[in-house]
Amino acid sequence: MKTLLLKVDAENPDPTIIQTAADIIRKGGLVAFPTETVYGLGADALNSEAVLALFAAKKRPLDNPPIVHVADLKEVGRLVLEVPPKAKVLMEKFWPGPLTLIFKRSSLVPKVTVAGLDTVAIRMPKHKVALELIRQSRCPIAAPSANLAGKPSPTTSQHVYEDLNGRIDALLDGGATDIGVESTVVDLSVDPPMLLRPGGTPYEALKKVLGDLKLHPFVEAEQELSLQQIRSPGMKHKHYAPKAEVILVEGKVSAVTTKIIALTESYRLDHKKVGVLATDETQSAYTADVVKSLGSHSNLATVAQNLFRLLREVDAENVDVIIAEGVSSEGLGLAVMNRLRKASAYHIIKA
Ligand code: TXA
Ligand code: MG
Repeated sequence: MKTLLLKVDAENPDPTIIQTAADIIRKGGLVAFPTETVYGLGADALNSEAVLALFAAKKRPLDNPPIVHVADLKEVGRLVLEVPPKAKVLMEKFWPGPLTLIFKRSSLVPKVTVAGLDTVAIRMPKHKVALELIRQSRCPIAAPSANLAGKPSPTTSQHVYEDLNGRIDALLDGGATDIGVESTVVDLSVDPPMLLRPGGTPYEALKKVLGDLKLHPFVEAEQELSLQQIRSPGMKHKHYAPKAEVILVEGKVSAVTTKIIALTESYRLDHKKVGVLATDETQSAYTADVVKSLGSHSNLATVAQNLFRLLREVDAENVDVIIAEGVSSEGLGLAVMNRLRKASAYHIIKA
């Protein structure tokens, strides 16, 4: 299959270009598109065949359902059994934006779209290209992140191209995404609500609105969860795994730096090529083969924005090990640490 590349202005998307992409969605095809978090790979959420093709293109296990994207609050009503009052509050306050809500689903949603579950994940993205694509397609769009399963999520069209060129019908290139980590997933089919995946909407902001919001153990897990603990299919799948072995070092910045220097030396004595994911504050202290800064400890939004791109960039240098510096779990740091811990397959060293 030849993948059609469509350049589009993120702020002022040309309706005729979006129409070309929307026609592909309406015919059951697959289109990758930018959102404010990461690129998504879209298909008509109500077309089972199209959604099956989506799983195949990504090589994604069929038991891990994608998020259904809407452009209008009215769309939600026909996809769900009920909109609980707490969901209404969150939708009004945080949509469009990086927040996915889990509802009890209606029978309109095909089984493959929800991987056989009786719930559905829905979000309204805050990106003009994504919203226009959904509107012009005149259907809700099922869209997981537009990477091959197990790879870091794509924050540029180049990442999508690397993973999916020749496997999808079209790619809308709207430049780099803003937030850099995926949406926060909150389950509202239970009470009190539970945060299943930390992401672009900080836990603190949600907690302020909801009062009571549980954190699923997965969010801060430092080891693989048991099967009974799993509440979201994505929790059991390998994720964000570069080719290299990843080690995460957590603790106070000075102790972490000392530990990473020591680890680098011992790996190099073993003739291993070492990459370090550092921060602005510590970057100059490291002498590894490849050193990249995620940003400053005092600006976790930048760290989130750079995370997946730098994981890919360091990996492309064919290092044997990537040693990453941990950051604070406040704000977007909670999502960053969740992704880094998972990328390391829980190879975590406390400095
Ligand atoms: O920012 C994002 O959320 C991006 C952009 C494209 O919107 N999308 C994204 O989708 O990250 P994906 O498919 O890579 O992640 C969806 C997550 C998975 O962890 C999945 O297990 C979970 O949401 N999920 C989907 N449906 C669910 C459900 N009914 N109950 C619990 N978890 C669900
Ligand atoms: Mg994903």
